[in-house]
Amino acid sequence: MIDLKSAEDVSRMRAACAAAARVLHDLAGLVVPGVSTAGLDSAARGLMARHGCESACHGYVVGRLTYPGHICVSVNDEVVHGIGSAQRIIREGDLVSLDVVVRRDGFIGDNARTVMVGQVAPQARQLCLDTEKSLMAGIAAAKPGNRVGDISAAIQAVLTPGRYGIVRDFVGHGVGRRMHEEPQIPNYGKAGTGPKLLPGMALAIEPMVNLGTHEIVMASDGWTARTADGKVSAHFEHTVLITESGAEILTLV
Ligand code: MF3
Ligand code: CO
Repeated sequence: MIDLKSAEDVSRMRAACAAAARVLHDLAGLVVPGVSTAGLDSAARGLMARHGCESACHGYVVGRLTYPGHICVSVNDEVVHGIGSAQRIIREGDLVSLDVVVRRDGFIGDNARTVMVGQVAPQARQLCLDTEKSLMAGIAAAKPGNRVGDISAAIQAVLTPGRYGIVRDFVGHGVGRRMHEEPQIPNYGKAGTGPKLLPGMALAIEPMVNLGTHEIVMASDGWTARTADGKVSAHFEHTVLITESGAEILTLV
């Protein structure tokens, strides 16, 4: 069952998503050479307090593991779910993926983006541009009458000409009172397949794209996903609301 948000739910989703967007926006401005990823995590914690929300990642339990950070911060070949570390110092040329998931008044806002630090390699830069473009194509396909597979196919269509590796082990998702609700939204797939999209659905659409293979390996911390070939990865995400006329992006600043 895919949850349909009531008018009351939607107004609370709006507030949570606006807060998530402001935190991500402000945090992106702090990604400069010399800062540690632990420094970014603690800055995010402060920004969440300032914007009236709290981390939905901190304390998140999967199996026997509890997530220790307040955001996910994934550098270069790290795909998603990287944990801030005082030893990990950001350098010029890095790709830094920030994933900010907050809770406010019982609802979740989820968004992510990859920040390019200064001058980055041309292929890495193109990867970021194309990944963001694929997110926007997915959002454009998220309208009533369409199906989840139309979102997936629209994302894939942007990326296939670039011969990127579209990550398969992680997918977009419904979102609301919980971070992960139905449906799952793969970043590849067939148009016209999957559940029908209806007004009131809230979806986190989030392509994760690698410069090389789609395959990932998990780090020994149990959280950090890396590319199997060591090439760089990018991640862009918005939370959107399906309306009568299309998708409204809730995580805009
Ligand atoms: N946006 C990520 C996701 O949807 C956030 C994960 S938070 C964590 O999976 F705690 F699980 F790391
Ligand atoms: Co998400």
